[in-house]
Amino acid sequence: MQDDLLKKIISHAKEYGFIFPSSDIYDGLSAVYDYAQNGVELKKNIREYWWRSMVHMNDNIVGIDAAIFMHPTTWKASGHVDAFNDPMIDNKDSKKRYRADNLIEDYLGKIEDKINKEVEKAAKRFGDSFDAAMYKSTNPRVLEYQQKYDAVNTRFNKAMNDNDMAEMKQIIEDCEIVCPLSGTRNWTEVRQFNLMFSTQVGSVSEDSSTIYLRPETAQGIFVNYLNVQKTGRMKIPFGIAQTGKAFRNEIVARQFIFRMREFEQMEMQFFVRPGTEMEWYEKWKETRLKWHTALGLGEENYRFHNHEKLAHYANAAADIEFKFPMGFKELEGIHSRTDFDLKQHEQFSGKKLQYFDPELNQNYVPYVVETSVGLDRLFLAVLSASYKEEKLEDGSERVVLNLPAPLAPVKVAVLPLMPKDGLDIKANEIFNTLRKHIYCVKDEKDAIGKRYRRQDAIGTPYCITVDHQSLEDNTVTIRYRDTMAQERVNVADLVNIVNDKCSLNSLL
Ligand code: GAP
Repeated sequence: MQDDLLKKIISHAKEYGFIFPSSDIYDGLSAVYDYAQNGVELKKNIREYWWRSMVHMNDNIVGIDAAIFMHPTTWKASGHVDAFNDPMIDNKDSKKRYRADNLIEDYLGKIEDKINKEVEKAAKRFGDSFDAAMYKSTNPRVLEYQQKYDAVNTRFNKAMNDNDMAEMKQIIEDCEIVCPLSGTRNWTEVRQFNLMFSTQVGSVSEDSSTIYLRPETAQGIFVNYLNVQKTGRMKIPFGIAQTGKAFRNEIVARQFIFRMREFEQMEMQFFVRPGTEMEWYEKWKETRLKWHTALGLGEENYRFHNHEKLAHYANAAADIEFKFPMGFKELEGIHSRTDFDLKQHEQFSGKKLQYFDPELNQNYVPYVVETSVGLDRLFLAVLSASYKEEKLEDGSERVVLNLPAPLAPVKVAVLPLMPKDGLDIKANEIFNTLRKHIYCVKDEKDAIGKRYRRQDAIGTPYCITVDHQSLEDNTVTIRYRDTMAQERVNVADLVNIVNDKCSLNSLL
């Protein structure tokens, strides 16, 4: 059912000019996608929402745009050359490659599902008096599942923390995990696979050296930290924000734009006094969740997931998860990265990256709290939560994207009832006035109903119809996407009506 929804979204995104497979005429490139004419607008609006709320609305956050290529030592210092790995395993029968951690996580997910089913069944049986917590702590079957879950989960977390690939393989064997394709347990050993793409810089092979396509934008911020702090006369606590492409050679790339090999991140590193990082970590968790829920996609679609296994740089980490068509999955990460990155860069570059704190009269390397969200994942969250198939009163059906109006690719479609009798000229006038304020299109082809459907399918919040009455009294019909209600309004009021709902200001 939910798989169906993802398939529908993928085909809708292609049919209506949001997302195409990359190099489509060559049958695409795995896990790489192109944003089309409507997709690029939606993506730009999401990015703009992030930038304005992070940079323009915060006195102590500034933005940068660092290069994708960085000095190769950056990635030695950050730990990515040695530790940016995923555990990989192949099934010898199907020849399919998997992430070993994903196989174990799926296994744990199935146990969780079984527990939830037991609880749901019992809730139906006992009705209002049902106490779920009590049931979970006493029911023998649930307890058995829970014990199994805890035992595997503890081993799994330890194996991941210790980078113990032999133990990962042992867990897969002990849990009798089979390949979803071949159904067999004929596995290779588990090996570490580095996710960074590398290439050569330099024209002749003798002076060429290996450089990497950045796997995260964060390091561009760390290496610029002192330049920005000094030239911007920034006082701690302060942040540096950046949006841009990142590249990862993902072992298993699937689920559309959820996991791509080339994607875009929107990251902010917040530099704080050591010892205050947990306070800021909590504050940023709360701030970021509010930012997401302001979009109106439904508060029930978000939840926090605190990490048990921490990345090599973090002393606390949580994901904001979103309910995608494939279930709750990571949308944004909030990480307390300690002083790990700056200290590493100090060591590898031989340059001091300290801050003089006038209040403490002391130098120190700041601690960092990071917020990191994938722009493409957010795009998928917005698209999947907005996609609706509706049955109308007259028995017909429509597909509509209930996009938050400020994010909609096109805000207004101006539709002359027919392209003659001066209606087209009047429509042009209105169009030329509106386009100075917001992105709008003009559509003259086909019956008006068909044109409404086309705009519904790309999520245009307003359609403005110009008819013969418009020529007499300078009024038009405005038709609202979500309710399909129509209203007669004065042309002079259009800019205000539309701006009121479509401006990003309404979200900030
Ligand atoms: N600087 C920290 C960092 O990069 P991460 O959890 O690896 O942390 C942050 O990535 C965010 O980037 C994720 O929450 C996700 O939204 C996005 N992201 C990561 N890998 C991705 C991929 N392969 N495709 C699309 N988005 C991805």
